[in-house]
Amino acid sequence: MKLSHITLFLAGGLILASCGAGKDDPGREYAPNMYHSVPYEPLTQITDESSGAWVSSLENGVGEYYNSNPNNPNGMTMRVPPENSVPRSRGGYLPYRIPKDSLEMAARLLVNPLDSTAEVVAEGKVLYTRFCSHCHGDQGVEPGKVGEVYGGVTSYKSAAVVDKPGGHIFHVITHGKGRMWPHASQLSPEERWKIVRYVQVLQKQ
Ligand code: HEC
Repeated sequence: MKLSHITLFLAGGLILASCGAGKDDPGREYAPNMYHSVPYEPLTQITDESSGAWVSSLENGVGEYYNSNPNNPNGMTMRVPPENSVPRSRGGYLPYRIPKDSLEMAARLLVNPLDSTAEVVAEGKVLYTRFCSHCHGDQGVEPGKVGEVYGGVTSYKSAAVVDKPGGHIFHVITHGKGRMWPHASQLSPEERWKIVRYVQVLQKQ
């Protein structure tokens, strides 16, 4: 066996030996300080107290990379959010982060948090009359007084709009589209969703 073969064999063995069996076992880590941050990071949860023990300089002998917070139920270093914190995902009442050019994504992802109850539709109608009807008209088909002059106002029953989901309309109200201006500064997300319900009623009439 040539020397190069032996080297190759040993190198291959080393590579295989570095593979871990368990899903939480990263196997042999070359330069572990490249994987594990010594400073606390909010989402790290290295719960193995011996992790990095061979470089540990701590008096209690705990591994250098052990940075799990024992007071957090998930062992994360992050603090547990205070009681009654509102998760970012719920309701869409936090700043709306889908960018203007991602209309298709908004249409796919957003779900109206308000059901189409008589009350919601009635409130949507009031808001629609204040913010939309002067351009889109009372029925959302023929343009209103301003729309006649402004020009290019889309009918809600046009093929491009009639089958679009509520998230599409919400995004258009929020960011505007083409010649239509954004309304995010005038209408809260909740008000926008109410208008969406009313526009959908108009579309079915
Ligand atoms: C200043 C006039 C004006 C106002 C006010 C206005 N719109 Fe529009 N809207 C337009 C114009 C113009 C278009 C056509 C946009 C384009 O494609 O260039 C449009 C398009 C739309 C569309 C179709 C979007 C698409 O996918 O093609 C919807 C839905 C819509 N508006 C809803 C509303 C709602 C709801 C309000 C009230 C919150 C509103 N608009 C207020 C002028 C207005």
